[in-house]
Amino acid sequence: MMRSVRTALSRGQILRRDYSVTSGPERKVAVLGAAGGIGQPLSLLMKLNPLVSSLSLYDIAATPGVAADVSHINTRSEVKGYVGEENLGEALKGADVVIIPAGVPRKPGMTRDDLFNINAGIVKSLCLAIAKYSPNAIVNMISNPVNSTVPIAAEVFKKAGTYDEKKLFGVTTLDVVRAKTFYAAKANVPVAGVNVPVVGGHAGVTILPLFSQATPQANLPHDVIVALTKRTQDGGTEVVEAKAGKGSATLSMAYAGALFADACLKGLNGVPDVVECSFVQSSVTELPFFASKVRLGKNGVEEVYGLGPLSDFEKKGLENLKPELKSSIEKGIKFANQS
Ligand code: NAI
Repeated sequence: MMRSVRTALSRGQILRRDYSVTSGPERKVAVLGAAGGIGQPLSLLMKLNPLVSSLSLYDIAATPGVAADVSHINTRSEVKGYVGEENLGEALKGADVVIIPAGVPRKPGMTRDDLFNINAGIVKSLCLAIAKYSPNAIVNMISNPVNSTVPIAAEVFKKAGTYDEKKLFGVTTLDVVRAKTFYAAKANVPVAGVNVPVVGGHAGVTILPLFSQATPQANLPHDVIVALTKRTQDGGTEVVEAKAGKGSATLSMAYAGALFADACLKGLNGVPDVVECSFVQSSVTELPFFASKVRLGKNGVEEVYGLGPLSDFEKKGLENLKPELKSSIEKGIKFANQS
């Protein structure tokens, strides 16, 4: 008998899910960095997703335990754990969606850019393997600094001749999740019905929530909008400081990552009107990569939406973020082409 379970995996709304029902086509999802702080709860959430038929968990250590644990959950997908670089190819083969939360997280006092030296190399090597073993997969990049790791991935794929700009996404969903939560509290509205686009990039001032477009509209005073913007931009740091040296956001990030991967899978399966914000190749501004609303479909990105009308405060924020975002993008491109 099927069992109905309630989960909150779609746009903050509670959906009824029949976990034991086989639904839709076969879809393989690979998580690279699956034994980490984000990787473990993300693997759990992907195991709960009925759109997944095969779940491939890869890390440089500890994946067999995570995979054995998650595999006992009685949902649709078959789980396999892979440990060590020699097994990365097998982990990736046939993947429809590859999610990358591999790399080191921030400690108090660090910016996301401080992670560059370690994470850039990790991302580059993982992307080389993706180009070889799953060149058609949709890639969800979580590893920071996203503003640089996405351009690194693009360059690696270009060199390998496998780059498809429609299939490479920087995961900025956590910024949207935070903006919705903080806005709902200030506007005193139920969070499940709130929408807030967040554009730009994924670090400090490059994160630009568009509260002027938030729904439902609440006409919050300017000083509240300024404070909400700052809190959204500093949301990651808030968690890093609260964890006091024990890492950055993992649980909320796993939720956000699962939400975005779910949107990619729905798009692949032909569900219409799947729209999320993501950091993608873009011509919305003069910058080659930019986060904005995108429509997801069978090919990945089907449409990148423009920014819509901005308030004067947001216009200023947009101009303000461009130099930092530009330099982070260029840093990634330079790194990828260096060696
Ligand atoms: P963590 O240190 O707990 O886990 C990272 C995992 O990556 C570890 O299990 C490690 O063994 C694995 N790993 C390291 N090198 C690898 C390689 N070459 N191949 C496969 N796996 C490898 O870190 P946590 O907290 O899970 O964070 C992971 C990344 O996600 C960090 O870069 C962090 O900054 C980023 N992050 C991104 C967010 C976003 O909104 N996009 C939000 C929060 C964190």
